[in-house]
Amino acid sequence: MDCKNISAAAPDEQLRDEILRLKAEKNAVILAHYYVDGQVQDIADYVGDSLALARRAADEAANADIIVMCGVNFMGETVKVLCPDKKVLVPDTAAGCSLADSCPADEFEAFKAAHPDHTVISYVNTSVEVKALSDVLVTSGNARKVVDSFPKDAKLIFGPDRNLGAYINSVTGRNMLLWDGACHVHERFSAEEIIRLKKEHPGAPVLVHPECKRPVILLADKVGSTAVLLDYALASDAKEFIVATESGILHKMQKGAPDKTFIPAPPSDSTCGCNECSYMKLNTLKKLRDALRDETPEINVDPVQAEKARKAIDRMLQLS
Ligand code: 13P
Ligand code: SF4
Repeated sequence: MDCKNISAAAPDEQLRDEILRLKAEKNAVILAHYYVDGQVQDIADYVGDSLALARRAADEAANADIIVMCGVNFMGETVKVLCPDKKVLVPDTAAGCSLADSCPADEFEAFKAAHPDHTVISYVNTSVEVKALSDVLVTSGNARKVVDSFPKDAKLIFGPDRNLGAYINSVTGRNMLLWDGACHVHERFSAEEIIRLKKEHPGAPVLVHPECKRPVILLADKVGSTAVLLDYALASDAKEFIVATESGILHKMQKGAPDKTFIPAPPSDSTCGCNECSYMKLNTLKKLRDALRDETPEINVDPVQAEKARKAIDRMLQLS
């Protein structure tokens, strides 16, 4: 190993030691989403998709004193709603979500008021205020199951992701009213680029997150949440995969199947690197260490909004 590698490795090693020490001292638990940097995933106690993280938070409510959510703010809010008595920290409060931002609560409230006979189903990628306006929440891992739990003729609103909503409409035979929101990362995947890759790698199944646009979904061998795509990749006999979701998931795929090749689907503009969620990538080892050491930034939610949001989250957890 050359000197450059030694000096680059030392601070990370030190940070990891500090994180583990602080975590033990403070009885903290670290949760991380599959999209965060691999180093942060590796030090977390639990890595999962949005559904698994919500379930895990509900379980941790009884155990840890501090829960650090390495993901984006709406995930921290979900943890706080489920664990109101715990200190919930995030490494960086600038970690927003373009999808959650595409659904301002006041506009969603007006949309809901215009359709008073509809049940409101919201994706978990929303602010706590939008969750509070919802009858039930879903994640990409349980959206189909939750929607299927309603009678076929039920009048349903689905927000905020138009792509996930359209996909669920197509597989459940529904005609839910869709909020016109989207994720800037998933909207950028290009069907043309995936067709090109498929020609180069004819045996590679195409794995697609349902936040992608319909032409991309139509090319998929498997559509699902990050956890579903990971499980599929690990269980499949195929040796190569084309992956159309945020590239952080490749870390766990590659770790779980080092002999397989995972090819990130390029976005339509292949110079922009925008199959990375810049919000998720704000989570670094250093910020995680600082958050544990200083016990800030802390996520707090309005208790009235939280109580309403809790009902919608609990209903989701019961149905899935
Ligand atoms: P998952 O539901 O697969 O965890 O995805 C969350 C997300 O933010 C997708 O962009
Ligand atoms: Fe939000 Fe998209 Fe980032 Fe997921 S990938 S957190 S939906 S901006």
